[in-house]
Amino acid sequence: MRLLPIIPAIFCVGALILSFLCLFAGSKPGFMEDYSVLNLNTSRIGQNLLNTSSSSSSSNPLSTLFHNITDPLVNDIKSDLNNWATSLAKDLGLKDFYSAHLMDYCEGSYTPGPVPNVTLSKSKIERNVTYCSNRTAMFAFDPKASLQKSLNETGLGVTLDQLNWPKALDDGIRALRTAFKAAFVLYCMGVGFIFVTLVACLFWTSACSDGGRGTALLEIILASLAFITLGIASAVMTAIGVKGNTIIDKYGKSIGVSADRGNGFMGLTWAATGLMVLAAILGCVGCCMKRNRHKVKRVGEKP
Ligand SMILES: *[C@@H]1O[C@H](CO)[C@@H](O)[C@H](O)[C@H]1NC(C)=O
Ligand SMILES: *[C@@H]1O[C@H](CO)[C@@H](O)[C@H](O)[C@H]1NC(C)=O
Ligand SMILES: *[C@@H]1O[C@H](CO)[C@@H](O)[C@H](O)[C@H]1NC(C)=O
Ligand SMILES: *[C@@H]1O[C@H](CO)[C@@H](O)[C@H](O)[C@H]1NC(C)=O
Ligand SMILES: *[C@@H]1O[C@H](CO)[C@@H](O)[C@H](O)[C@H]1NC(C)=O
Ligand SMILES: *[C@@H]1O[C@H](CO)[C@@H](O)[C@H](O)[C@H]1NC(C)=O
Ligand SMILES: *[C@@H]1O[C@H](CO)[C@@H](O)[C@H](O)[C@H]1NC(C)=O
Repeated sequence: MRLLPIIPAIFCVGALILSFLCLFAGSKPGFMEDYSVLNLNTSRIGQNLLNTSSSSSSSNPLSTLFHNITDPLVNDIKSDLNNWATSLAKDLGLKDFYSAHLMDYCEGSYTPGPVPNVTLSKSKIERNVTYCSNRTAMFAFDPKASLQKSLNETGLGVTLDQLNWPKALDDGIRALRTAFKAAFVLYCMGVGFIFVTLVACLFWTSACSDGGRGTALLEIILASLAFITLGIASAVMTAIGVKGNTIIDKYGKSIGVSADRGNGFMGLTWAATGLMVLAAILGCVGCCMKRNRHKVKRVGEKP
C-alpha cells in the first residue's frame, strides 16, 4: 500500500466537487446564485426613455406605445413617465437582474433596493432569485429571449424593440453561444478525465509490478488530459465573462442595462484546474522517487 497516491486522489475528489459546482451552480433558486457566469442588471432599463420626455410626454415613445390601452397598470406607467424615481422595469414586468449560469439562467430582484445610495452600500445589495429556467445541456444564455419572456408574462404586448433594445448587443451575445455550448462539453469531458484519474490513483496505491511506475505514468497522462480540458473550459468561460461584460456594458448603456462577470465562478473553475495540475505533478514525483530507489538498489548490487 503506497501512501503518496492518496494525495492526488484527494485532489481529484476536490476537483470533481468543484467541477460539479460549476455545472450546477444556480440550478435552483438561491443555490450558489453568486456564482453566475454573467449577471445582467436591468433594474434601470429604459429609464433614459423617461428622461427624454421631461418636457412633453406626447413625444415619448412609451406614451404613444400605451396610448390606446386603458389598463390600471398602464395608467401607473403613464403617471410614472414623469417620475424618475420609480422603476419602469417593474412596471413592465421585467426583473431587476438576469444571471447566466452554465446550464440555465435565473432572474429576480435586488433586496433591499437595486440602486446603492448613502445608506445602502453596493456590497449590502443581495440578489433574491424568484425563478430559474429548467436545466438544459448545451444551454446558451439569450438575454433578449429571457427579458421578452418576462414582458410577455404581463400581457401588455410590449416588445423589447419598442424599448430600443440594441441589436448590436444581441449580435455580440449571439457570437458567444457556441463558446457556451463548447464549454459545457469540455466540462463533461473534464469530469470524465478527473474520474478516471481518481481510479488510476486508487490502482496506483496497490500496484506492485515495476514499483507502480506504470500506474504513476498513467495517472500523469490522465491528470494532464483533465487539466488541459478543464483549463480550456475555464479559459472559454473567462472569455465569455469578460467579453459578455464588455459587450453588454458598451451597447446596453444606451438603454440603462449593465453587466457583471462572475468572479466567484472563475475562482471555482480555475481552482479545479489547479488541483489537477497538482495531481499531475504528484504523479511525476511518484515516478521519479521510484526511479531513484531503483538506482540506489542497483548501485548497491554492484560491489
Ligand atoms: C434624468 O433626469 C434627471 C433630472 O432631470 C437627472 O438628474 C438624471 O441624471 C437623468 N438620468 C439619466 C439617466 O439621464
Ligand atoms: C390608437 O387609436 C387611434 C384612434 O383613436 C388610432 O388612429 C390608432 O391607430 C390607434 N393606435 C394603435 C397602435 O392601435
Ligand atoms: C436607499 O435605498 C433604500 C432601498 O431602495 C431605501 O429604502 C432608502 O430609503 C434609501 N435611502 C436614501 C437616503 O435614499
Ligand atoms: C444596477 O444598474 C444601475 C444603473 O446602471 C446602477 O445604478 C446600480 O448600482 C446597479 N445595481 C447593482 C446591484 O449592481
Ligand atoms: C424574495 O422575494 C420574495 C418574493 O418576491 C419575497 O417574498 C421574499 O421576502 C424576498 N426575500 C428577501 C430576503 O427579501
Ligand atoms: C420545465 O420542467 C417542468 C417539469 O420538469 C415542465 O413541466 C416545464 O414545462 C418545463 N419548462 C420549460 C420551459 O421547458
Ligand atoms: C412573446 O410573445 C410573442 C407574441 O406575443 C411571441 O412571438 C414570442 O415568441 C414570445 N416570446 C417569448 C420568449 O415567449
